[in-house]
Amino acid sequence: MPMPGQFFMVGLPGRLDPLLKRPFGLFRHEDGLLSFMYRVRGKGTLIMSGLVPGDTVEILGPLGNHYPLPEGKYRIRKPLLVAGGTGVASLLPLLRELKKNSIFVYGGRNRDELLCIDEVRGLAGEFIAATQDGSEGVRGTAVDVVTDLIRGRDKDGFLLYACGPAGMLKSLQGLGLQGYCAMEENMACGTGVCLGCAVKTSTGYKRACTEGPVFDINEVVFERF
Ligand SMILES: Cc1cc2nc3c(=O)[nH]c(=O)nc-3n(C[C@H](O)[C@H](O)[C@H](O)COP(=O)(O)OP(=O)(O)OC[C@H]3O[C@@H](n4cnc5c(N)ncnc54)[C@H](O)[C@@H]3O)c2cc1C
Ligand code: FES
Repeated sequence: MPMPGQFFMVGLPGRLDPLLKRPFGLFRHEDGLLSFMYRVRGKGTLIMSGLVPGDTVEILGPLGNHYPLPEGKYRIRKPLLVAGGTGVASLLPLLRELKKNSIFVYGGRNRDELLCIDEVRGLAGEFIAATQDGSEGVRGTAVDVVTDLIRGRDKDGFLLYACGPAGMLKSLQGLGLQGYCAMEENMACGTGVCLGCAVKTSTGYKRACTEGPVFDINEVVFERF
């Protein structure tokens, strides 16, 4: 049974370009049907967007680790889920498990970027949207919202789960919360062989596809942002 945070490599059989499968978080698993939610970024996702019922894709998975649930010493902390853009695809399966025992902060450039907003709003105990143009929720970023949310409160009361652009993850790391982030690195093999997905951490480089994609957010070394 795939766990929240795990991913599949999805490929287009019979094509030389793109040759490699692409990684996508498992968005939904219901009645034997696997669903992925993706944004068109390049050639692979553009071709995927033109697929019709009956077309074939190749999938490999579930791969990688998963979000640890708030257990043991973290049991009493409030799960704080923070999604930027398509990061919601990774966090929605976790939200479906945590449901009302969670706060969900969802940021994007505008309302059109906030996908599945009704499902997220319906499931979360507390839901706050943030858009840079103010077209949905508060005007600002998800990081602005989290900053306001934790101001004056005990940071140890929260357990962060984040997925989104690396710049957002780095800013969240700066807030000093305990928790996890899923890293959406470019991948080639997805199975730990090519070393193309290396993530720098405080304990050395780790492969996002096998030792991730979920990492302790305070162990990741964000260099490029
Ligand atoms: C574990 C994991 C889970 C993911 N889950 C999802 C998901 O659920 N939904 C979703 O829409 N996307 C997800 N992604 C990102 C997705 O894999 C890329 O968008 C996809 O590979 C793009 O393929 P493409 O052939 O269309 O574009 P490409 O031709 O591969 O790339 C087009 C452009 O996008 C950039 N790009 C490619 N991959 C990434 C990436 N991983 N991060 C940032 N920029 C990238 C390239 O540098 C290039 O500029 C996930 C990535 C990982 C590692
Ligand atoms: S994608 Fe090849 S090692 Fe991770």
